[in-house]
Amino acid sequence: MSFILLDIHLLLQKILYQFIMITVDLTKINDPKVNFKKKYAEGHSNVYIETYGCQMNVADSEVVVSILNKNGFAYTEDIDVADLILVNTCSIRENAEKRIFNRLQHFKGLKKKNKGLLIGIIGCMAERLKEQLLEQEKLVDIVVGPDAYRDLPKLVQQAEGGQQAINVLLSREETYAEISPVRLDKNGVSSFVSIMRGCDNMCSYCVVPFTRGRERSRDPETILNEVRELIEKGYKEVTLLGQNVDKYNWKNAEVNFAKLLEMTAQLNSKLRVRFSTSYPQDMTDEVLHTIAKYNNICKYIHLPVQSGSTRVLDLMKRGYTREWYLSRIDAIKKIIPNCAISSDFITGFCSETEEEHKETLSIMEKVGFDYSYMFKYSERPNTFAEKNLEDDVPEKVKGRRLDEIIQLQGKLSLKSNKNDVGKTFKVLVEGVSKKSEERLFGRNSQNKVIVFDRKDNQIGDYVMVKVVDCTSATLMGEAI
Ligand code: SAH
Ligand code: SF4
Ligand code: F3S
Repeated sequence: MSFILLDIHLLLQKILYQFIMITVDLTKINDPKVNFKKKYAEGHSNVYIETYGCQMNVADSEVVVSILNKNGFAYTEDIDVADLILVNTCSIRENAEKRIFNRLQHFKGLKKKNKGLLIGIIGCMAERLKEQLLEQEKLVDIVVGPDAYRDLPKLVQQAEGGQQAINVLLSREETYAEISPVRLDKNGVSSFVSIMRGCDNMCSYCVVPFTRGRERSRDPETILNEVRELIEKGYKEVTLLGQNVDKYNWKNAEVNFAKLLEMTAQLNSKLRVRFSTSYPQDMTDEVLHTIAKYNNICKYIHLPVQSGSTRVLDLMKRGYTREWYLSRIDAIKKIIPNCAISSDFITGFCSETEEEHKETLSIMEKVGFDYSYMFKYSERPNTFAEKNLEDDVPEKVKGRRLDEIIQLQGKLSLKSNKNDVGKTFKVLVEGVSKKSEERLFGRNSQNKVIVFDRKDNQIGDYVMVKVVDCTSATLMGEAI
């Protein structure tokens, strides 16, 4: 049983945050009225899309679908009927890119069977590698960066005419504000809403500022309209997305993140509001008080610390110290006593010593994170670290340190989950357990996955569930 539960939990964690492939079936949005390409004038062209990377990419794929849909493309989950394959990509670590390269090779192979097939790479790898992907690698026909999706229909046409089709211009303004994304999720319960784009933080290891460009906030009215539409469609939960949501700023703080959270929460008390990602340096008490004030703002904060050592944090250019981070944790625990907290960690960053690694282990214990995402440092081209610091921690040591933090997190998660046994939570049902039709799963406000007997409950319902057992990954409960 625990395997099943672990599976569900891992799946959910991945959906929530990390590096999965999502295929979408949007045959239902086919709009045959619009003739986009001569070739498909009698019918429509089909686009198949795979999404890698973070939630921002998931949200972006929905914008891309919307743009293409207005230009005569229907979506298909069936790659065999695709006229256009798009791969929305991630550059965050070398491994992420390697996986995508393999996938592109595979797609290139499909062209032998299907002569007219076009392949496009979009997202962060498109932005990072630019022309290289067309010229050197010759893997794709179309290359489009994250700020150029409005140009996609034109670029597809260009590629069809045999021309190079590339647009990787970054913008200071583009937020796709008024585009109503076509929802690609399968459950119709929970959706991402992008509130800002880009990142100005320039952490020394990170490629995102280069692939996503400058930070900019989206017009709050368009955000609220998108949420209203979701509510009308029956969605029960939204996650407001940005690389650093605490920097959300519309017109000189006329609307800041706390205000935006509040306005979103006030739209409907039955709508759950989540957000990601918070940044230790910028997270204000005002935001924490807003979370505490509204029942429907989830009591869960993803607050990546990356390292427990002030010297390493300084090299990472994170802009805070170990003590500062711990003081923000104290503020969370004081203002929102029932708040769950998760983090990201990078092990083996340039010149990290054994002592400094131990400081990471000790900050984990001190905070007692409910869960974490943990990575080995991967040097990324053109970042400050690549140019100025030596990637000198041996791979083996990085691996061992990673194992140690994963092990410790396992213990902390189990402790946190055991603490919930006997408690009752309001769970928003997200799906049916893969292995048993008789079981449902959902999450509580603290973002923990709970599996329980189905009874008469449906996907999208709020159900009160008493926790009776747990693993380090999942809570098991009974509906009451
Ligand atoms: N904006 C978020 C993080 C976005 S990237 C924040 O600052 O918290 C998600 C996570 O990937 C980061 O938190 C970090 O832990 C990890 N990451 C980013 N660059 C990395 C690199 N070069 N090597 C290993 N992990 C990295
Ligand atoms: Fe990268 Fe730092 Fe921006 Fe996060 S805040 S996306 S880690 S530069
Ligand atoms: Fe990856 Fe780009 Fe997101 S690099 S993590 S897809 S912003």
